Amino acid sequence: MTEAILLVGGRGTRLRPLTVNTPKPMVPAAGVPFLTHQLARARAAGVEHIVLATSYLAEVFEPYFGDGSALGLHIEYVTEEEPLGTGGAIRNVATRLHSGPDEPVLIFNGDILTGLDIQALVATHESTRADVSLHLTRVDDPRAYGLVPTDPSGRVTAFLEKPQTPAEIVTDQINAGAYVFRRSVIDSIPAGRPVSVERETFPELLATGAHLQGMVDSTYWLDLGTPQAFVRGSADLVLGRAPSPAVPGRCGDRLVLPTARVAPDAKLTGGTVVGEGARVGEGARVMGSTILSGAVVEPGAVITDSLVGARARIGERTVLSGTVVGDGAVIGPDNELREGVRVWCEAHIPAGALRFSSDQ
Ligand code: GDD
Ligand code: MG
Repeated sequence: MTEAILLVGGRGTRLRPLTVNTPKPMVPAAGVPFLTHQLARARAAGVEHIVLATSYLAEVFEPYFGDGSALGLHIEYVTEEEPLGTGGAIRNVATRLHSGPDEPVLIFNGDILTGLDIQALVATHESTRADVSLHLTRVDDPRAYGLVPTDPSGRVTAFLEKPQTPAEIVTDQINAGAYVFRRSVIDSIPAGRPVSVERETFPELLATGAHLQGMVDSTYWLDLGTPQAFVRGSADLVLGRAPSPAVPGRCGDRLVLPTARVAPDAKLTGGTVVGEGARVGEGARVMGSTILSGAVVEPGAVITDSLVGARARIGERTVLSGTVVGDGAVIGPDNELREGVRVWCEAHIPAGALRFSSDQ
C-alpha cells in the first residue's frame, strides 16, 4: 500500500504565540494534536507507513506518537539539522521510503484540514500516468497560496507561489498541499541543501516537460496557518463539518474532555472545545472557541471565535472575540479584547485595563 511523507517542520510564525512552545501540527484541534486528524485520515485511506519530516521543535513528535501503532501506523521520524524547506525535507527522508522507482508516494503539508478523497488522488495519478499529482482547491483570494493553472485535461501549465503582482493572478485554483509523487521524482530533488518544492521543484519539473496533474475538488479545505483559521478548523471538526476519525467523542455543538469542569449554567456552542483539566465558570458563554488544557474561564466571561492557551486564565466578565491568548497568560476581570489581538504567553493584563468600547 501507498506510503506517505508528512511535512511538519515549519516554524508556524503566523500562528504565534500558539507556536512558541508547540509546533503547529501539535497544537490541539478538537481535543487532540492537529496532526492526529491527518494521520487518522491517511490511515483510513489505507496508508500504513508514514515518515514525519521534522525540524522546528522536532523533539515533541516521537514521545507523543511513538511508533504509530496506537493509530495502526508505522511512523518514522527524520529531523533536519537545518531547516531544508519543503522540497529539501522531502528529499531528506527518501532513504526511509520502501516504494519502487515508479510507485506513488503521498506527501502532505502538515497544517491542512480537508475532506480530500486521498484514494481518488492516487487513482488520478495512476490513470493519468503523471510524475506528480496535486490536490487543487478554489479560493476567493489566492494570493497567500501557490497558484496552479491547468489545461482542460487537468494538466498543470504553471506553478506560481505567492504571486506578487496582479498579472500573476491567472486562476483561483491553488495548491491544496497534498501530492502524489512518482518515487523517482523524489530521488531527483537535490540533496543536502534547502529546496522549496513550490518555488524550485515544481517550476523546474514543468520546464523540463514533466507531467504534473491537478485534481480540483471542492470538498472541505482549510489551511490552519493563522489563529482565526485554526480556531475555525477546530470548531468545524467538533461540529462534524470537517471529517476526521480522530475526534475524541461525538460531533456536536461542543466537546468537553473528560477531566474538564464546566458550570451547569455555562453555555458552550458553535463547536467549542474545553480541554483536559480546564474549567469554565458560572454563566460564562463560550462560542466557536478552543479552551486548551488547564485553562480557566471565570464566571460571566464571554468568549467568541478565540483560542485560550494552556493554563491561561480569563477573568470574570472579560470579553474575547477573535483573539488568541498564549499559554499561561492571565487576563484580569472586565477586559475587552477584540479581533486580531494576540496576548503573549505568560503575559498579565490587569483588571479593566483594555477595552474597545466605553465602559459606561
Ligand atoms: N520538515 C520541514 N522543513 N517542513 C517544512 C519546512 C522545512 O524547512 N518548511 C515548511 N515546512 C512544512 C510546514 O510545517 C507545513 O506543514 C508545510 O511544510 C507548508 O509550509 P507552510 O509554511 O504552511 O506553507 P504555506 O501555507 O505558506 O504554503 C504552502 O501551503 C499552501 C496550502 O496551504 C504551499 O505549499 C502553497 O503552495 C500552498 O498553496
Ligand atoms: Mg500552511
